[in-house]
Amino acid sequence: MGRVIAIANQKGGVGKTTTSINLSAALAERGKKVLVIDTDPQGNTTSGFGLDKNELENSIYELMIGECTIDEAIQKNVVEDLDGVDIIPSNVNLAAVEIELIDADQKEFILREAISKVKDNYDFIVIDCPPSLSMLTVNAMTTANTVLVPIQCEYYALEGLSQLVHTVNLVRDRLNPELEMEGVVFTMFDSRTNLSLQVVENVKEHIQENVYKTIIPRNIRLAEAPSYGLPINIYEPKSAGAEAYRLLADEVIERKFD
Ligand SMILES: Nc1ncnc2c1ncn2[C@@H]1O[C@H](COP(=O)(O)OP(=O)(O)O)[C@@H](O)[C@H]1O
Ligand SMILES: [Mg+2]
Repeated sequence: MGRVIAIANQKGGVGKTTTSINLSAALAERGKKVLVIDTDPQGNTTSGFGLDKNELENSIYELMIGECTIDEAIQKNVVEDLDGVDIIPSNVNLAAVEIELIDADQKEFILREAISKVKDNYDFIVIDCPPSLSMLTVNAMTTANTVLVPIQCEYYALEGLSQLVHTVNLVRDRLNPELEMEGVVFTMFDSRTNLSLQVVENVKEHIQENVYKTIIPRNIRLAEAPSYGLPINIYEPKSAGAEAYRLLADEVIERKFD
């Protein structure tokens, strides 16, 4: 059975989308079959895989409000030179979903229900969450087996983390008893400054969660790749960023949950 990983942190700009795209592509490079689900109305994962978010016939929005089927929502093999990455894309339409579904039954489980039919077709399902602890993030967490939290190596790294862990605990207690912490991954590590190192040490001291050994460096190629609509392992396969996400993928594959 596959593993569903929600990439969450209510802070924006910490590397959720970059990790969703490049971890997924690295898992596919290792021969895994991956479904990426973009649940952020900003649609950056969608455009990062080269899709025009303004030209989507179907998206996570149509899927969640019941206007398309799961098969219609999935775009298969989205990376030309890499087998095994499918995506459910997103765009700004998704911003309305919370209001539209306000009276829906079981609204915390809409995504889980929607993808249940295809779940077993994949080794990994990676859900990119929006920068909030909204209904969309809760839907991601009820669908997920684990939550992976990217933490940016900057001064306020710990801010909001306890709130996120609290949300994960609430979802586990009330909605999804199987939910576990996949762990924390440090992003945008800058080896030229002491600050990055201090942040890593400080966060490690303050959290109980699993911390991935792989640390994602700050790498300009990672920032450039989305504008070409490519994951880093296709855009610049030998870059430090590509290597780091390969190592992270290996660790994620190695880490077993019951
Ligand atoms: N390791 C990295 N090195 C350089 N730039 C990065 C790295 N990770 C993310 N970025 C850039 O930082 C910005 C925020 O990253 P993003 O993944 O979109 O964060 P989030 O999804 O959490 O908002 C983006 O412009 C992205 O290209
Ligand atoms: Mg994002």
